[in-house]
Amino acid sequence: MSHVDPPKPVRLWDPFDPDFRADPYPYYDRLRTEAPVYRSDIGQVVLTRYSDVFEVLRSNDVSRDLEANALLDESNPIAVRRRNRRRGGAKSILNLDPPDHTRLRRLVSKAFTPRAIEGLRPRIEHMVDEVLNNAAQRGKIELIDELAFPVPFRVISELLDMPTERADELRGWSQTLTAGLEPTATMSDLDASEAAINQLVPYLIEIIEQRRAEPGDDLLSGLLAVEDDGDTLSYEELISFVVLLYVAGHETTVNLIGNGMLALLRHPDQLDRWRQDASLDVSAVDELLRFDGPVQHTVRVAMSPMRFEGAHGETITIEPGHTLLTVLGAANHDPAMFDEPDRLRLDRPNAGKHTAFSAGIHYCLGASLAKLEAGVAITRLIRRFDHIELAGEPHWRDRITIRGVDHLPLVVR
Ligand code: HEM
Repeated sequence: MSHVDPPKPVRLWDPFDPDFRADPYPYYDRLRTEAPVYRSDIGQVVLTRYSDVFEVLRSNDVSRDLEANALLDESNPIAVRRRNRRRGGAKSILNLDPPDHTRLRRLVSKAFTPRAIEGLRPRIEHMVDEVLNNAAQRGKIELIDELAFPVPFRVISELLDMPTERADELRGWSQTLTAGLEPTATMSDLDASEAAINQLVPYLIEIIEQRRAEPGDDLLSGLLAVEDDGDTLSYEELISFVVLLYVAGHETTVNLIGNGMLALLRHPDQLDRWRQDASLDVSAVDELLRFDGPVQHTVRVAMSPMRFEGAHGETITIEPGHTLLTVLGAANHDPAMFDEPDRLRLDRPNAGKHTAFSAGIHYCLGASLAKLEAGVAITRLIRRFDHIELAGEPHWRDRITIRGVDHLPLVVR
């Protein structure tokens, strides 16, 4: 009797597949159609519909504190190691639930309101123009290394009044640290990520202590004043906060400028339109965030039974303790929300409804800043040069949580 192996189940969510990592959008479409509530191999429930993602992110019945609330597969050494690491230090605002989340968020939200951020515009324009003057002389620019990384990095450094001499090292630590957040991270990635934290934290502590001795009117001095005041912000919380602000300021906006510029170069009609029409300046940045956002997914833990509709109208119940992977990039390409989602349309009327900055209480604190930085960088670049052309194939970093290219060489005239 011949033996036939049963067909292997198709893995609809496979971050280890290089094709998936290179271009996840077709995979998201298939998931959304065939299994919008999908249990992945590692036990996460992958959500790809806009409505499900949005509801979960805004729900009061979910937690962002995986360490405290998520069921853990004790046989998975990577998951166990991650949990133990999270137990090591204070949680950052991103991993806290109310009331701690509310307390920490209140301390900094004033510094990040759209109005406060708008005050940074002239400084950001000046930084961008310096870079573009240099590019004009040479007729070329390496967009990531010369503009997309250094501008957001300098802005967050100035906000916190941090020195910038060790930019390259800091960038390296940040990249290594975020590589440890990828679902494909190996034990050696986690080793490297811990080593990076062990270098970054003492560096920051040194600066924090200097600032305590000589406070200024920067954001870090403001946080230190709160910490000195009593028990609203502990020393550990302060450090986690500064690490998060710093890393968020490095690793995300760079990819909005990079992915956004690449999308425009691949849609030259849209690029031309934007160059000539300043009334698009706000909606266009939102459309770039929707089209290919830097953060592709985030997580929540179900705290009570949650009901979702499956592909065939059936009810799927997720029990408390299960981790929900809300795929922001998939929500942003859901045709039920966005007409012709795979088309870049800078005048899309509902572009601002994207979930690239998440939603609910953890909605990105730096959203206004990121939009200002990317808007200034891209509009000044495309209005300064009539001719912008790719000078080589862009290379996507091999990542799925934070998505971006590592090099984007351009010829400009
Ligand atoms: C295009 C650039 C950016 C993107 C796409 C982005 C995306 C996100 C997302 C998706 C979250 C929420 C994750 C969740 O719900 O689990 C978040 C939170 C956060 N982001 Fe951003 N971010 C960007 C830039 C920035 C910048 C420039 C800063 C600060 C300087 C920043 C600071 C933060 C902080 C502090 C949080 C935590 C907020 C909270 O938990 O209440 N982000 N960001």
